[in-house]
Amino acid sequence: MYRPDIFLTLIFFAAQEVVGSNFPFEAVQLSEADAKSFPAIGFGNTKAGPPPGSTVPQCRAWPGSHDWPSDAEWKQLNISLGGALLKPLPAAAACYQGENYNETTCQWLVTQAGRTRFWIDEPLSTLTQWPQGSTCTLAMNATGTCTRGGFPEYVVNATTVTHIQAAVNFARNKNVRLVIKNTGHDFGGRSMGAGALSIWVHNLKSFEFIPEYSIGQYSGMAVRVGAGIESWEMFNHMAANNITVVAPGGATVGSVGGWIAVAGHGSLASKYGLGADQVLSINVVTADGRFRTVDPHNHEDLWWALRGGGPSTFGVITSVVLKAYPPINITSVSLSFSVNPSLANGTILPGIPPPRPNAPSTTDLSAFWRGVSLSYHDCIHIITAGGYCFSYIYPLGPSSFAYSTSHTIPNITSPAFTALLEPLYTQLNTLSIPVTLPASTSLTPTLYAGNGRRTGTGDTPINTRYRSRLFPSSVWQSPSEFEALFSSIRVGVEEGGYTFHGIAYSPTLEIAGWPGANSAVNPAWRRTALHGSLMEIQPEGISAAEAKRRDERAHGYVARWKELTPGAGAYMNEGDPAETGWQGSFYGGLYGRLVGVKRRWDPWGLFWARTTPGSEAWEVVTRDGYPAGQNGRLCRVVR
Ligand SMILES: Cc1cc2nc3c(=O)[nH]c(=O)nc-3n(C[C@H](O)[C@H](O)[C@H](O)COP(=O)(O)OP(=O)(O)OC[C@H]3O[C@@H](n4cnc5c(N)ncnc54)[C@H](O)[C@@H]3O)c2cc1C
Ligand SMILES: *[C@@H]1O[C@H](CO)[C@@H](O)[C@H](O)[C@H]1NC(C)=O
Ligand SMILES: *[C@@H]1O[C@H](CO)[C@@H](O)[C@H](O)[C@H]1NC(C)=O
Ligand SMILES: *[C@@H]1O[C@H](CO)[C@@H](O)[C@H](O)[C@H]1NC(C)=O
Ligand SMILES: *[C@@H]1O[C@H](CO)[C@@H](O)[C@H](O)[C@H]1NC(C)=O
Ligand SMILES: *[C@@H]1O[C@H](CO)[C@@H](O)[C@H](O)[C@H]1NC(C)=O
Ligand SMILES: *[C@@H]1O[C@H](CO)[C@@H](O)[C@H](O)[C@H]1NC(C)=O
Ligand SMILES: *[C@@H]1O[C@H](CO)[C@@H](O)[C@H](O)[C@H]1NC(C)=O
Ligand SMILES: *[C@@H]1O[C@H](CO)[C@@H](O)[C@H](O)[C@H]1NC(C)=O
Repeated sequence: MYRPDIFLTLIFFAAQEVVGSNFPFEAVQLSEADAKSFPAIGFGNTKAGPPPGSTVPQCRAWPGSHDWPSDAEWKQLNISLGGALLKPLPAAAACYQGENYNETTCQWLVTQAGRTRFWIDEPLSTLTQWPQGSTCTLAMNATGTCTRGGFPEYVVNATTVTHIQAAVNFARNKNVRLVIKNTGHDFGGRSMGAGALSIWVHNLKSFEFIPEYSIGQYSGMAVRVGAGIESWEMFNHMAANNITVVAPGGATVGSVGGWIAVAGHGSLASKYGLGADQVLSINVVTADGRFRTVDPHNHEDLWWALRGGGPSTFGVITSVVLKAYPPINITSVSLSFSVNPSLANGTILPGIPPPRPNAPSTTDLSAFWRGVSLSYHDCIHIITAGGYCFSYIYPLGPSSFAYSTSHTIPNITSPAFTALLEPLYTQLNTLSIPVTLPASTSLTPTLYAGNGRRTGTGDTPINTRYRSRLFPSSVWQSPSEFEALFSSIRVGVEEGGYTFHGIAYSPTLEIAGWPGANSAVNPAWRRTALHGSLMEIQPEGISAAEAKRRDERAHGYVARWKELTPGAGAYMNEGDPAETGWQGSFYGGLYGRLVGVKRRWDPWGLFWARTTPGSEAWEVVTRDGYPAGQNGRLCRVVR
């Protein structure tokens, strides 16, 4: 029987989208009237082109030069911002002789601040300091002088969309360099810049659970998350709402900023995909100063590019809507073993978990390396089951090394997990590595969403350098390719002296689903089985020549990885800011299309960060040529 009423109702519901509303802070927007009363904060027009007869400045304005905005203009900007403009001193200024010297403060910074949230809540600081130029290094009884170096001149403590719009317009109209900072975790100096106005999104802490959200093919639970939310805060929100959201592993990493803009991995990457794969809608202030909602129906090119196509490139994100899932259990097993621990005379990199003391050991170097190789090979089963391996190989001396890994799988029973791991332990025992698999009864699942009550304390500037490669799963299909790849990892640790960090994940297109599968995430991620990196510390205060030498040395080891994995890529967030051929490594075949989106939405090149699409048109001119440094003026590259 023909029932037109049912038919009509179905159509109605199919077209219905329930997307909720923006945060209150997003309703506070810059009006045309505000912009007219102070033309320096007037909106831009991407289609207008430069005014006839004008010359495009070669460099961004520089403090003290004639082109730098006057004090009166900065003051007027501050009034437009309701007083949210800051001119902070670098924190370590307290350690340097002069008017800011304070021994008590310096001592606290050196010994105590890292146990608190000081460095995360501080408007200028970044965890990787070397791009600043080592001009104001944190140390007791520091010598030399403290200058701002690569830290920005001014910071907007953004708490409304108006603040962000006014800052974007002012920087564009006055030719001032613009940077965006959230937590300051970027390893490549992308949240700092000399002579810049910084938009600090850290205090945008809004959060909302949306029980029913539907857009396009998605219908289900979602969360709306402000740009300043950190991973630990997300975990607490998950616990409070009895939901799971994909979030970064590092507790104080931003859940929205650079993580989503580049890919974003976390413990559920093989089950629900990357951070960028979770996004359903994005609110953003674009380079023309306009506030926009970007989603599958609005601004298609920007929607594609903002998910994986680079941080600080297309706009300032104010909030995103992410998929949410029911609570899920995860089960984790740790495995550690070492070789010749008594001969260890090296140091462990700061900032990473140290090897387990008194782990089972062997004195047979070749058995150790064979065991480590078997363990990496075995990870293919872990990721196929929706889990991940998180591992380090530590160089401790010429014939002393340690290996530690954890294997984590969501939604698995303890007996099934034990059965999955058993063959690896048997093989390791055959090599006389005396490891024992925990009994299934002792494997207690933890409720992922219930891992709340986290705190975001304990970060201190460290200067970690990563060199990354996303090793494709195809390597695991070929014993000889795997053997060659593993040898190159071993050489990097044994001969190079680097710590190897390997995270096995498989955020495939299938897992990304809709709308994640159609995004600007580096396509190499979709084929990845292991995100491998060589880690070291960049010493403070080294010369430009020494920094270049260290880069070249590391590039030699990465070159072997590249030869063995042609067409694969690297993860920019845990990659090398001095990566050679970064366009291909970080963006793969999507690079050209991304530059097109960049030109359309930001013809001014207002947003600039190292190794982002279009960034090769500009360079930071440092006095000494320190590679990847931010302590200098940003100028157009003359070809
Ligand atoms: C301790 C630690 C743990 C980590 N753990 C993980 C992990 O588990 N998984 C993982 O994938 N990565 C991890 N990382 C790397 C991390 O993804 C990057 O450091 C990332 O850049 C952090 O982004 P952020 O916004 O927190 O930091 P920031 O340094 O503040 O910003 C990073 C970049 O994003 C831009 N940006 C920030 N906010 C916005 C915004 N609202 N709009 C536009 N651009 C913006 C900045 O300009 C900058 O270019 C870790 C890093 C550290 C230091
Ligand atoms: C901006 O104004 C506020 C409030 O008047 C003031 O406290 C702050 O110091 C000003 N910022 C700058 C950089 O002058
Ligand atoms: C140094 O800093 C401490 C702590 O902030 C403060 O109490 C003290 O007055 C400062 N000393 C000087 C000399 O400014
Ligand atoms: C710093 O100098 C003071 C004296 O001014 C001295 O007592 C102290 O030991 C020095 N600290 C370090 C770490 O060198
Ligand atoms: C930034 O603004 C927030 C909200 O007004 C305020 O609580 C915080 O103290 C400000 N931070 C700084 C460093 O001024
Ligand atoms: C949490 O959600 C799950 C399924 O979504 C449900 O079974 C469980 O009862 C909820 N727990 C609480 C405490 O609400
Ligand atoms: C998680 O594991 C606990 C303990 O085994 C169990 O009681 C609980 O039902 C599990 N929860 C889910 C969501 O699977
Ligand atoms: C460790 O010992 C070896 C010799 O066995 C030596 O060459 C090396 O320099 C030592 N390393 C450190 C950090 O002391
Ligand atoms: C967990 O596993 C069970 C049994 O295999 C399955 O029915 C269920 O859908 C899974 N839950 C999730 C959230 O994947």
